[in-house]
Amino acid sequence: MLAIRDLHLYYGASHTLRGVSLDARMGEVTCILGRNGVGKTSLLRAIFGLQPIAGGTIAWEDRDIAGLAPHLRARCGLALVPQGRDIFPRLTVLENLQTGFAPLPREKREVPEEIFSLFPVLRDMLRRRGGDLSGGQQQQLAIARALVTQPRLLILDEPTEGIQPSIIKDIERVIRYLAQRGDMAILLVEQYFDFARDLADAYAVMERGEVALAGCKADMEESAVRRYLTV
Ligand SMILES: Nc1ncnc2c1ncn2[C@@H]1O[C@H](COP(=O)(O)OP(=O)(O)O)[C@@H](O)[C@H]1O
Ligand SMILES: [Mg+2]
Repeated sequence: MLAIRDLHLYYGASHTLRGVSLDARMGEVTCILGRNGVGKTSLLRAIFGLQPIAGGTIAWEDRDIAGLAPHLRARCGLALVPQGRDIFPRLTVLENLQTGFAPLPREKREVPEEIFSLFPVLRDMLRRRGGDLSGGQQQQLAIARALVTQPRLLILDEPTEGIQPSIIKDIERVIRYLAQRGDMAILLVEQYFDFARDLADAYAVMERGEVALAGCKADMEESAVRRYLTV
């Protein structure tokens, strides 16, 4: 499991994460909710090693990974689906998927067939350029690219942002399937409350760089959570 304790992060003088603690367990979806600017993306980037931290610990499978470079965290089984997707627009869909090979040993470098059963649209588009895909297709490609790395901790930053409802349903189905398979911990940042509520086994609501509210699905009080999400 992932265990974060007392994490602090600064951008210059601005204290952006203020003692964040959070767990994410195997076979569960842990949702992080919160308005724009509260530090959700910063937290995910810190977990993945893209942003240095000023204090605290990030333990993954009982090992402190806070000192590791991002590519080494990927080798430990972490994968990040970034906000905004970051598809390579001039590479084909297949080439985008192949960028996920980087952390894998040579003999494991193939795109698992399962990816195309999860996202059939990608098989039809293998030779298209990433930049020619719709936003929803790019989001599916970004998730697929992360799955190519065969992660045990899948981190998704607002996968429903700017995406049409039919594809949101597809993405929801995939995330639920991956969680139920039981060999992956999923950390999901969302502002879309219904999506988060339907998927979350555990949740944390952030406010100004801190966890303001946290718990498991059973004790999630919709009105209390929504209060933190409305502007
Ligand atoms: N690279 C950066 N440099 C300076 N400030 C940043 C940087 N990235 C984010 N911030 C600031 O940190 C705060 C948290 O941002 P972010 O983690 O992106 O929040 P969220 O994902 O919850 O919208 C915001 O005030 C944002 O403007
Ligand atoms: Mg963000």
